[in-house]
Amino acid sequence: MPAKIRVSIVGGSGYAGGDLLRLLLGHPQVEVMQVTSERFVGKFVHSLHPNLRKRTLLKFVSQEELTSCDLLFLCLPHGSAMGKIDRFAGLAPRLIDLSADFRLKNPADYDRWYGKPHARPELLPKFAYGICELHREAIRKSNWVSSAGCNATAVILGLYPLFKNGLADKERTVVEVKAGSSEGGNSASDASHHPERAGCVRSYRPTGHRHAAEMIQELGFGKELAIHFSATSIDMVRGILATCHVFLKRAMAEKEIWKVYREAYGEEPFIRIVKEREGNYRYPEPKLLAGTNFCDIGFEKDPHSDRLVVVSAIDNLMKGAAGQALQAFNIMHGFDESQGLEFTGLHPI
Ligand SMILES: NC(=O)c1ccc[n+]([C@@H]2O[C@H](COP(=O)([O-])OP(=O)(O)OC[C@H]3O[C@@H](n4cnc5c(N)ncnc54)[C@H](OP(=O)(O)O)[C@@H]3O)[C@@H](O)[C@H]2O)c1
Repeated sequence: MPAKIRVSIVGGSGYAGGDLLRLLLGHPQVEVMQVTSERFVGKFVHSLHPNLRKRTLLKFVSQEELTSCDLLFLCLPHGSAMGKIDRFAGLAPRLIDLSADFRLKNPADYDRWYGKPHARPELLPKFAYGICELHREAIRKSNWVSSAGCNATAVILGLYPLFKNGLADKERTVVEVKAGSSEGGNSASDASHHPERAGCVRSYRPTGHRHAAEMIQELGFGKELAIHFSATSIDMVRGILATCHVFLKRAMAEKEIWKVYREAYGEEPFIRIVKEREGNYRYPEPKLLAGTNFCDIGFEKDPHSDRLVVVSAIDNLMKGAAGQALQAFNIMHGFDESQGLEFTGLHPI
C-alpha cells in the first residue's frame, strides 16, 4: 500500500477548515498531521467541530508549531496567506489556498477589486485556479492551487457552457445569488447576531462584490465581459442559489441548450443537470446539497424573449470551499476524483 499523503490545515478552527478536516479524516489516502488555530491552541479540534467527536483526537497547534508535510491547506481569511506564503511553501511542496489571495491572474484586477496592490504579484501565475471542471489539466500539473470563491463557483459552473460556446450576450448577464450565513465564516459580527440574521432576506452586496472579478476572469476568455452581480443573505446556514439571467445571441430551443450542457458536463462526476417537468424538485435547490460536492444546474428559456434563466446551486462549504479543494487534491495526486467526496446528501433534511 503506498504511503499516505501527509497534510496539515492552517486555519482549521474556521468553517471551511472544519469541513475540510471532516473530509480528510475520511479519505483513505490521507493522514492529517496538524491543524492550526491561534485562538484555540491545545484544545481538541472536536471542541470547535463537535461532529468530529470520536473521529480524531487531534488538538489545535499554533502556526509557529507547524512542521513539514506533503501538502498544506490554507484556510485563512483573505489577505493572510499572501504575507506568509514563503514560510508555507518552505513547509510543504504543495499548497491549496482557499482564500481569495491568489485567484485573480491579473494583478491590476486585484488592485481594482480589493482596493490595494497585491503583495506578491509574481506568484499569481504559479497558482492553478481551482474549479476542477474548467482547469483539470492545469491542476494536475500544478503544485499550487487557489480555490475559487463560493459564489463565483456557483455562477461560473452555471454559465461556463454558454460563454465557452459564445452563445450569450457579453453585456447583459445579470446574476443574483442568495447565500447562507456560513459564507461569512465563524467570527461573530453585528450582522451575524441571531436576532439580526435570523429570518433575514438582506441585500448585502447589490454591486461591487469581489467574486464578480473571478466570474469575469473565467467567463470572459480574455475579452471584455459584463456580469451584473448582486448578493443577498438569506436565512440558511449552508447553501448558495445563483439565479443567472443570460440573454442569448440567437434563438435556441431548450433541446439545443440541453445539448450544450450535456456536452460540457456529461462526464463530470459532480455536476448534475436538474430540470424536471413536474414534482417538487424541478430545479436546483441548495438545501438538498448540504454536505455534498455537487453543483446542480438547471435552466429555463423565457418563451417571450431571448432570456435564458440558469439556476445553479451548491453547498458553499463543499463545492464552494472544502469539497472543491479536496477534488483538486485528488486530481493533483492522480486519485479518483470522487474519493472522500461520495456523500450523496440527505432527504428529507
Ligand atoms: N465560508 C465559506 O463559505 C467559504 C467558501 C469559500 C472560500 N472561503 C474562504 O476560506 C477562508 C476561510 O473561510 P472560513 O469561512 O472558514 O473563515 P472562518 O470561519 O472565519 O475561519 C478563519 C480561520 O482562520 C484563522 N485565522 C488566522 N488568522 C486570522 C485572522 N487574522 N483573523 C481571523 N481568523 C484568522 C481562524 O482561527 P484562529 O484565529 O483561531 O487562528 C480560523 O481558523 C477565507 O479566506 C474564505 O474567504 C470560505
